[in-house]
Amino acid sequence: MTDNHENAPVSGAADAWAGDVARPVVPSAPNRRPSDSGYGAPASGTGNLPREGGGVSRETTEFVPGDDSPVGRELWETEQLRRSLEDADFPRPSSPRVITVSNQKGGVGKTTTSVNVAAALASRGANVLVIDADPQGNASTALGVEHRSGTPSIYDVLLDDVPLSRVAQRCPDVPTLWCVPATIDLAGADIELVSVVRREFRLHDAVQQLLKGAGKDLDYIFVDCPPSLGLLTLNAMVVSTEVLIPIQCEYYALEGLTQLIKTVEMVKKHLNPQIHVSTIVLTMFDGRTNLAREVAGEVRSHFPEQTLEQTVPRSVRVSEAPSFGQTVITYDPASSGAVAYLAIAREIAARHFAKEGQQ
Ligand SMILES: Nc1ncnc2c1ncn2[C@@H]1O[C@H](COP(=O)(O)OP(=O)(O)OP(=O)(O)O)[C@@H](O)[C@H]1O
Ligand SMILES: [Mg+2]
Repeated sequence: MTDNHENAPVSGAADAWAGDVARPVVPSAPNRRPSDSGYGAPASGTGNLPREGGGVSRETTEFVPGDDSPVGRELWETEQLRRSLEDADFPRPSSPRVITVSNQKGGVGKTTTSVNVAAALASRGANVLVIDADPQGNASTALGVEHRSGTPSIYDVLLDDVPLSRVAQRCPDVPTLWCVPATIDLAGADIELVSVVRREFRLHDAVQQLLKGAGKDLDYIFVDCPPSLGLLTLNAMVVSTEVLIPIQCEYYALEGLTQLIKTVEMVKKHLNPQIHVSTIVLTMFDGRTNLAREVAGEVRSHFPEQTLEQTVPRSVRVSEAPSFGQTVITYDPASSGAVAYLAIAREIAARHFAKEGQQ
């Protein structure tokens, strides 16, 4: 494993992971953030500080007791949720969970969900790896790791058998969070993989090798997929036990979902009997619109087991964070988006723990 921005292979990488177990996240990152408080912002939000461009996003405006406006209520709810999560338990799984984050529909929040859930879990002590399997490299950007063309990346793992431990980089802001970056080189991989031996199992083999060695103490691996059901997504599904589907609460939300579910079933039948859709996250949810509520209702009625209680609100801070190479968890931890992703991470951890207990 390598530390951020250094790509030389490091021996004793297992220690790097093992040594970080349960280490609390240290305040950091404000140096890369142009304004205001960083990790560990005051409970009441970040105060009425002027933001970049003079705007004050509603999720970071201070809650004023007695404010009964819709914005005031939202702030109050966020604050209550944030406090309830302060002492909440984030049980770690007994064996590593490998989770594909997929939806062939573009822009639904796959990357945002991958990096923020990963950062939220890591901020509570879990050892987490995000594999960026999208040539766009958005997860690599959001996690603040180097991913210029030529950087050792997932491309080298898939095409040249380079071990994952040699291309993973530690994220600068969260010590127990790692990222295998994607560079633009990956753009041709879907085609290049066609002629490669065991083409659907390239990632599977690499992850198995990682989990036996340097990554043996990992709790979670998230694979952020591109918006397609090609060989990259297939590779992710072959190595995963779980699929997490982010669904944006908008009109076309459910289109394509049937195709996605069919693909998961096909992988289950032919390549990986363990895979199943474990989690659905409703993203960019605005409960004030009928459409969002209807879509959410529809999804919940079809997937009552899988759909998480907690939704992700539309949030300026969530969309701003990647431009500072950060997740919203470190960028603005008291914001509604960060608190929602923390609650989602907790649900993901707690539901699994409950299932493990039943077995
Ligand atoms: N909760 C949110 N609030 C505001 N903006 C959001 C939220 N979630 C995601 N976005 C924004 O929506 C856009 C799409 O999100 P994201 O990149 O996570 O989707 P994606 O499914 O990974 O896209 P792609 O299919 O291109 O990989 C981004 O600009 C992101 O910042
Ligand atoms: Mg993406």
